[in-house]
Amino acid sequence: MLRQTVAVTGAAGIVGIRVVQQLCKAGYAVQALVHSQPPPGHPLYREHVTMTVMDLAALPEQAMLQWFATRRPSGLIHCAAWVDVAGCESQLSQAYLMNTRVTEMLANICTRYHTHFVLLSTEYVFDGTLCPPQVYRECDRVHPLNHYGKSKVQAEIATQATCMENTLWTICRTAVLYGSTPWNRPDFTQWLRTKLQQRATVSIATDLISSPTHAIDLANMLVAIVERKLAGIYHTAGRTAIDRYHFALQVAQHHGLDDTLIQPILAAELGAARPLNVGLCVENISHDTGIRPLSIQEGVVYSGEIERLEE
Ligand SMILES: NC(=O)c1ccc[n+]([C@@H]2O[C@H](COP(=O)([O-])OP(=O)(O)OC[C@H]3O[C@@H](n4cnc5c(N)ncnc54)[C@H](OP(=O)(O)O)[C@@H]3O)[C@@H](O)[C@H]2O)c1
Repeated sequence: MLRQTVAVTGAAGIVGIRVVQQLCKAGYAVQALVHSQPPPGHPLYREHVTMTVMDLAALPEQAMLQWFATRRPSGLIHCAAWVDVAGCESQLSQAYLMNTRVTEMLANICTRYHTHFVLLSTEYVFDGTLCPPQVYRECDRVHPLNHYGKSKVQAEIATQATCMENTLWTICRTAVLYGSTPWNRPDFTQWLRTKLQQRATVSIATDLISSPTHAIDLANMLVAIVERKLAGIYHTAGRTAIDRYHFALQVAQHHGLDDTLIQPILAAELGAARPLNVGLCVENISHDTGIRPLSIQEGVVYSGEIERLEE
């Protein structure tokens, strides 16, 4: 049977690998776009996945158009981004080139081929001034505090302006990812566990609230969006809005690590401006896909199970 093809940018990233895996499971063929050639044994070397190495920030639009013309994916899930919040503050042109201009180029190409364009965005589009336990809905006003957030808001605006009435588009805002593979940089939970195993003291903010998201759970939501051709803005995140300190305690306790090594601090002591309460409401994605995003408790247990399987 001929498989439908979906393209994934940033396919070797935390989200990208999980998206490719879940697309394959769902019966799609995947065109995986990567920044550099993955080493032997990497999970992207698998049946139904074709890889192309390219630097999206340096690629002329014409070359991307040609790539599309020969592959004709029915959907493009755009995971590639520059996610280094501090780096985006100090290197503005790099941040806006990678996060905004590349998005605009890809959205533009998708309109030419009537490809469903799916942009990964972030909770950092909000300023975090909501009072807990309130959480942000899709229709809430965006107001980013830092350049990473601003570059993603501009990517969202470019997506809507380019795709509106020309091709199907979806913006998926997610948050604090965990459940990454051993091939990725360590996520927050992996970093924390390594520190606690080394018996190092860690300082974690009690006033940074977000909706931590398991990368496989997110990938399942993205596959459902492509399958059902859902359009518009969705909050695709975990079900629990929780502050970083209590998230850390849950991870430590689940893994039998010494949680007295985790010291509470305030976000103001961390430097770069970060929004405080950016919990995301996930009612819409839940309603439209039937997927109930994982709670923190469920996600931490699930993460442990996946890790044992992948060892
Ligand atoms: N991680 C989070 O907690 C989080 C939270 C909210 C939203 N998000 C959003 O989720 C999406 C995926 O994030 P992630 O955590 O999976 O990030 P990631 O692990 O850093 O993956 C991003 C990927 O993009 C690739 N990339 C960067 N510059 C590129 C370029 N010039 N050309 C081609 N590829 C390039 C990177 O390749 P190299 O590493 O080889 O450069 C990397 O594989 C992003 O849109 C991000 O804004 C993430």
